[in-house]
Amino acid sequence: MSSAPVHSQLGSVRRPIVAANWKMHTTPTEARDLAVKISEAITDAPGVELVICPPAISLYNVRKALDSTIGVGAQNIYWKDAGPFTGEISAAMLVGVCEYAIIGHSERRQHFGETDEAVHLKVRAALTHGLTPIVCVGETLAQREAGQTNDLIAYQVRGALHGISPEELSSVVMAYEPVWAIGTGIAASGDDANAVALRIRSVLESIGGSDAAQAVRIQYGGSVTAANAAEFLSQAEIDGALVGGASLKPLEFAAIVQAAAARIV
Ligand code: 13P
Repeated sequence: MSSAPVHSQLGSVRRPIVAANWKMHTTPTEARDLAVKISEAITDAPGVELVICPPAISLYNVRKALDSTIGVGAQNIYWKDAGPFTGEISAAMLVGVCEYAIIGHSERRQHFGETDEAVHLKVRAALTHGLTPIVCVGETLAQREAGQTNDLIAYQVRGALHGISPEELSSVVMAYEPVWAIGTGIAASGDDANAVALRIRSVLESIGGSDAAQAVRIQYGGSVTAANAAEFLSQAEIDGALVGGASLKPLEFAAIVQAAAARIV
């Protein structure tokens, strides 16, 4: 099978990218309506890359409801193209339906036993089929309290991305999502998130060199709201946000996107 073109970001200025992860919320009808409401609420953020990740059953409807200025992403993919894998959806099947795929979200690691090796295979499959992977990494509270954050992050980043060419690497979006901050209302501080993003970038450099590492967009995710978005999006190493709960509220999500637009000077 021939590979789809990689969306290389080598040499590009990092464009802010904000993604909505709706998780297991919304029926297909609700998803379509919410996507339209979000697109109407975001009136003036031309420089921001926007991605909506609805449940798989709504990908097609949401894609049809939006114009091409807003990206659509899957919340998970399987790495084989086709075969006896009941219930799975392959990257190959998503070509033409969406453009991004969240990979390695901590909820998938925690509840569905997703390993670093599975994350790696999914990243490879996404790149092969021209989907932009949004690769999630992040430590648990116990790991943070044990002082293991930096080692754990390095392990997850290498596990996901080893062996990937600099050009492919530049096209990957990373999401730093501390597990303890997800859905808890307790976000990381901007400074702490920036320090981990810096760590991620240094590991990326060891994998694919400085140019690729500098091109990779790194999002922060975990209890991002309209009230705290600027704290993250004003950090040097943070290029966007991966938003859960607040992305189900059009006006609040639009305000987060506005904070990302303020990055562009
Ligand atoms: P919350 O924004 O609801 O904390 O979720 C974050 C997340 O997991 C996004 O992928």
